[in-house]
Amino acid sequence: MKFGHFDDENREYVITTPKTPYPWINYLGSENFFSLISHQAAGYCFYRDARLRRLLRFRYNNVPADMGGRYFYLRDSGDAWTPTFMPMKKELDFYECRHGMGYTKITGERNGLRATATFFVPLGSTAEVCEFKVENRSDAAKKVELFSFVEFCLWNALDDSTNFQRNLSTGEVEIGNGGSTLYHKTEYRERRDHFSFFHVNRPVAGFDTDRETFVGLYNGLHEPQVVLGGECRNSVASGWSPIGAHQLTMNLAAGESQTQIFVVGYVQNPVAEKWEKQGVINKTRADALTAKFNTPQQVAEALAALAAHWDSLLSNYQVSSSDDRLDRMVNIWNQYQCMVTFHMSRSASFFESGIGRGMGFRDSNQDLLGVVHMIPERARERILDIAATQRADGSAYHQYQPLTKRGNDEVGSGFNDDPLWLISGVSAYMKETGDDAILDVHVPFDHNVEKGGSLLEHLRRSFGHVLQNLGPHGLPLIGRADWNDCLNLNCFSEKPDESFQTTQNQSGRTAESVMIAGMFVAIGPDLVQILRSRGHEEEAKTAEQHIANMRVAIDTHGRDKDWFLRAYDYFGTKIGSSENKNGQIFIESQGWCIMGGQGFNDGFALRALDSVKERLNTKYGIVLQDPPYAEYHKELGEISSYPPGYKENAGIFCHNNPWIVIAETMLGRGDQAFKYWSQICPAYLEEISEVHRTEPYVYSQMIAGKAAVRHGEAKNSWLTGTAAWNFVAITQHILGVRPDIGGLRVEPCLPSDLKQVSVRRRCRGAMFDIDVQNGPGTQWSLEVNGKAINGLVVPFAAKGETVKVTARRV
Ligand code: BGC
Ligand code: NOJ
Repeated sequence: MKFGHFDDENREYVITTPKTPYPWINYLGSENFFSLISHQAAGYCFYRDARLRRLLRFRYNNVPADMGGRYFYLRDSGDAWTPTFMPMKKELDFYECRHGMGYTKITGERNGLRATATFFVPLGSTAEVCEFKVENRSDAAKKVELFSFVEFCLWNALDDSTNFQRNLSTGEVEIGNGGSTLYHKTEYRERRDHFSFFHVNRPVAGFDTDRETFVGLYNGLHEPQVVLGGECRNSVASGWSPIGAHQLTMNLAAGESQTQIFVVGYVQNPVAEKWEKQGVINKTRADALTAKFNTPQQVAEALAALAAHWDSLLSNYQVSSSDDRLDRMVNIWNQYQCMVTFHMSRSASFFESGIGRGMGFRDSNQDLLGVVHMIPERARERILDIAATQRADGSAYHQYQPLTKRGNDEVGSGFNDDPLWLISGVSAYMKETGDDAILDVHVPFDHNVEKGGSLLEHLRRSFGHVLQNLGPHGLPLIGRADWNDCLNLNCFSEKPDESFQTTQNQSGRTAESVMIAGMFVAIGPDLVQILRSRGHEEEAKTAEQHIANMRVAIDTHGRDKDWFLRAYDYFGTKIGSSENKNGQIFIESQGWCIMGGQGFNDGFALRALDSVKERLNTKYGIVLQDPPYAEYHKELGEISSYPPGYKENAGIFCHNNPWIVIAETMLGRGDQAFKYWSQICPAYLEEISEVHRTEPYVYSQMIAGKAAVRHGEAKNSWLTGTAAWNFVAITQHILGVRPDIGGLRVEPCLPSDLKQVSVRRRCRGAMFDIDVQNGPGTQWSLEVNGKAINGLVVPFAAKGETVKVTARRV
């Protein structure tokens, strides 16, 4: 069942009923200020850090769901309703939500009154703007009252939801412009140099800033007493819960409309300029901000600038094929989600509360893979930020806080896959841009400038960290966990409230990861190539020797009969082996070992992939392992804590499915690769939205596996490495266009029924116009500007040039 449709021309998903199977959200913002907004306008916004600088309150885990946001109540002849459906839930004659690139437009109509709210965060601003149009579509005049409503978060979202003994007394506001601008200034009197505000560009009939006054102590947001009574009370909050609410009165003749512009803004003042006079905030910067979005003309220009921004970003990779689902994922939604994950890492979604995790070391490195072709400069900056949280021994802080950019001590380090992801991120960046100078940038270790080294030195330490931490079989020690956060082989936790990852009670020098070994042989060659390009031949050779040794270790100790093992536990027992009762075969080591080129000579790779198909694949995607753990094993950790079929315990953990897709393409099996890719691809699941439940335009982290009660049901949409990896899988391996040393490699591996596709790929400023003609053969041949070339690498071209490429499979 569908709950809307794609509008590809406008690059929108159009939701046509508020009763979606879960809140379907969008993200606004592209630099420092971000908003989450559902199809019913719930959500919140924050400045840079969803935990420390949250502006609005949203109620996670609320009953009913999707509560807390920016609400607009209309009162039309005594009939009060909300055009976003929630919170009043009055039946609408028309409802539509268009989630687009960086904006969301929600329309609701009732009894001939139509309201359209267009929300966006203008480029370069620290504000969420909402253009709110009210239109009298009836044939009689209407007197309409409009009430706006936002609830302020007292900045630190964790503290805001826990520390009531203090917070119920700290709230402060100021009223400006006769009530049109409502300033939220809690804690500004002491250490904060920032405040927020809620502004409307018209004179108001009234306002409120105290929640209890506006809503009523025992009322819900679906029945605010002020709205029901028809009149704001001009309350000035003092402690409790500060809100912003405006009342606007409009007399609309038949056919007449009125547009107003609301702004939720964030302002930071230099300490010396905090005050206008004692106790009164300096509002100069707030005034300057609202002055930019004062007229519909200004709003239209800002929206046009945003559209142009997305045009330009998305134009770097466009495909045209006979499959519109493929096209819309590649051209629009997958790239869009990659940008969102790049900004948020795993911090703030409707599943990630924005208070738990900052930026992940491995996550952010992988996120780069999906955006480096769009925003290379920002990728560069991110690489340097991430690298500065690496420690001198090559290990890495697992997470860091975006505001401070410091490693998070609570979680610490010891996730032994982390260091290798830095090599893969840097290598992807260098292939995309050719920016070799980044290797020479001096980057601190753990933010200590004295202990820093060149970025190249960081990469060496990453590689070295694996070598210094080899286990009894010559395979890498796993540490607290590798990519699979839940395979905790050194943390025998028996107490319910401990962290599975960080409660240390084992020495950890036995448990080994075949996945990290696979990563080492897959990613290590990138470092070898970098060393060689720098003339460090001896070092490159030594590194190659280490990789060769690891290959032998995988062949000798990393194989079960028909697939790669997953790990050895603390006691040296195999994990991911047919000898095990549960967890006999895991997906991750099949993906990484094969991506690393293992098992190609003797048919083992093929056998491993066939085992994946037979043992792990389902119609909704490939499960992480099988059979699921039936009971808790303290020597395995969190993986065995989940009920069978969910999350890492044999859920379809979408992030790792594209590794198998890529592996399939490496064996030339285009049909199988495409099948795996499309079976978890959201646009292909639109028709089963009632089963899948999360947004049909973005990937979710997990789909319940075959052992789960609710097989096929997805959770954790938006913030997942699935976005970047599927983008890599489809664009670089199935469509087969990827930057390489010296040029753009064109080596597609298409399903047989895709006969022809066109790819436009911008790289290093030149546009490559690639016509791919699929055929029954096994070899590709390329023509560049009409001339046949040897090999599959199209040389890079000068900025501004267009290169015509034809790829034929014969
Ligand atoms: C989840 C993992 C996640 C980890 C992070 C676990 O509960 O299952 O997917 O990476 O928490 O803390
Ligand atoms: C989610 C985490 O963000 C990611 O780092 C991890 O690899 C996966 N879970 C798998 O456990």
